[in-house]
Amino acid sequence: MMVRRASLEDAAGIAAVQVRTWHAAYAGLLPQEHLDRRTVALRTTQWNDRLRLGEEDVFVACDPRGMIVAFATGLASSEPVEGFDGEIGAIYVLPVAQGQGLGKRLLSAVGMALRAKGFQSAWLRVLSDNTPARRFYEKLGAEIICETTEEIDGFLYREHFYGWRDLSKL
Ligand SMILES: CC(C)(COP(=O)(O)OP(=O)(O)OC[C@H]1O[C@@H](n2cnc3c(N)ncnc32)[C@H](O)[C@@H]1OP(=O)(O)O)[C@@H](O)C(=O)NCCC(=O)NCCS
Repeated sequence: MMVRRASLEDAAGIAAVQVRTWHAAYAGLLPQEHLDRRTVALRTTQWNDRLRLGEEDVFVACDPRGMIVAFATGLASSEPVEGFDGEIGAIYVLPVAQGQGLGKRLLSAVGMALRAKGFQSAWLRVLSDNTPARRFYEKLGAEIICETTEEIDGFLYREHFYGWRDLSKL
């Protein structure tokens, strides 16, 4: 598997990974309607915009045929989280590609890209009930920063904020 920076042509491939992985990871955690509304077509449009805007460092992992199977993003912190200047925007690995080290390689690539831009740290948010992802972040040395409640489609969800104060440790 190859990890590389995303190009402008990757929007549809990233969107497909995002939608499939969301359904697998969040079924039962988020309302099904919330998942169903976020189609590959909608996500492709959003990713086209995001990639063209260029505000995020986006990395993808590809299988030997060149198909995108995972992606992760990093950016300047989008909200004030004390002591943290960068943010991990997303990380999704297709279920078939999980457990092969891709998540770790992608976060490492994002961490290096953020450091190259002068960021020292990064935080992320995760549904508190998303236990596998939390174990993954903890395995990679993230610390819990805080817990909060987020409203999604009229329902309240617990979220944990995790972070790395020193991106060189990621
Ligand atoms: C969470 C996720 C990104 C992890 O990526 P991955 O490619 O499966 O993880 P990796 O194979 O890179 O694992 C890296 C390390 O974390 C450990 N790890 C991964 N998942 C784990 C789990 N559920 N419990 C314990 N350890 C775990 C691995 O054993 C590995 O340890 P090692 O370095 O000692 O070998 C991926 O499984 C995923 O996309 N999940 C669904 C979507 C999701 O929840 N995304 C996060 C949204 S906030």
